Amino acid sequence: MASPRAQTVLLTGASGQVGAPVLRALAAAGYGVVALVHRTDAPGASATVEGDVCRPSLGLPPGQYRELARLVDVVVHCAAATAFRPDAHRTMAVNTHGTERVLAFASHAQARLIHLSSAFVTRAELVRRNIAAYAGAGAEPIYTYLDSKQRAERQVRDAHVPHVIVRPSLVIGDSQTGRMDCLQGVPTLLVAALAGWLKWLPLAPETTVDVVPSDFLARAIVELAADASSSGTVWVTAGSAAPTMGRLVRLLGSGNARRTGQSAGLDLLDPVSSLQRLERWAGGGVGSVRLMRQAVAQSAALHGAEPFPSMDRVLPGITRPTATLIETTWLRTATHLIEHHVPADRRPLLGAQRAKANA
Ligand SMILES: NC(=O)c1ccc[n+]([C@@H]2O[C@H](COP(=O)([O-])OP(=O)(O)OC[C@H]3O[C@@H](n4cnc5c(N)ncnc54)[C@H](OP(=O)(O)O)[C@@H]3O)[C@@H](O)[C@H]2O)c1
Repeated sequence: MASPRAQTVLLTGASGQVGAPVLRALAAAGYGVVALVHRTDAPGASATVEGDVCRPSLGLPPGQYRELARLVDVVVHCAAATAFRPDAHRTMAVNTHGTERVLAFASHAQARLIHLSSAFVTRAELVRRNIAAYAGAGAEPIYTYLDSKQRAERQVRDAHVPHVIVRPSLVIGDSQTGRMDCLQGVPTLLVAALAGWLKWLPLAPETTVDVVPSDFLARAIVELAADASSSGTVWVTAGSAAPTMGRLVRLLGSGNARRTGQSAGLDLLDPVSSLQRLERWAGGGVGSVRLMRQAVAQSAALHGAEPFPSMDRVLPGITRPTATLIETTWLRTATHLIEHHVPADRRPLLGAQRAKANA
């Protein structure tokens, strides 16, 4: 790993699913990390400031803003509105105005910016086509999210601030512990499936699902922070090592089979068949139906997609994720989610999952 010159990083979004492992990795690499905290605390930072990326001067008093600008060498911008909720205004405000404010800060501080984008920005057109074909109403939040992330990338490219744009695919747990710091989007569905609340998912078995371990992404960000010459767009993806949904569910099922002799009991249906089943579905409460509708909308970013490019360059000290690493991390993530988020009476997979993840 490249060694930092006792640099100070301002980290936004430090309490999030991506920001929390990034904070741990930066601290472990010897950086001073100032976390810009919004509503949730960020344990492990060298210092915290309370702010809001949507407000002028990041919501900080003028003296504190100036002092921070004097201290900071690199900004890692992970703050974002990521939940696919029908609050388009907030999503746009946090993801675009927030990025503008962070760019203004980086410019004042003469700091480099590492901006967290998403590999899915390249799939906005696919999402539009899929939604038009099968999902209809209820898909607005995913459009807004992708639109806001595309705009933010343009803002970063157009600003005169040295930067790297990082495009991760779906972030799962830590490759060693399976730990996930927050639950949103896909992990929420996974928990519902692991608990047996969902009996099917709106993804055909052959759909490629590109996932990356959170610590792998965090290490990539540390390398980018350390390398002052890094610039441009960096994909952090599994690429050709990405598994299919069928493979991921079979892995969960094989853990289950060892213990109970049954399959995981999770059907994989293409989105159209899912919607048809949803029409007939009497078993689910309003919450489950809403969750499934969201899942169908999210599947629009995966259904019929070309694989993402593999990481276009492998950073010093980081090798591309292998299929084995991805699969082990997937099982460890499932185990972590079961232990921490599935009620005890709904944990049929646990023993076998742990054995398999540790095998
Ligand atoms: N997770 C993934 O699978 C994934 C995949 C690809 C790309 N990404 C990108 O990675 C970045 C981080 O995503 P994530 O999954 O970590 O998101 P997350 O878990 O939803 O966390 C979002 C973070 O942003 C903070 N935040 C929200 N509004 C804020 C505001 N107005 N001012 C300051 N901070 C604010 C939140 O703090 P509070 O909770 O205190 O408000 C939280 O720390 C995003 O750019 C996302 O698009 C994520």
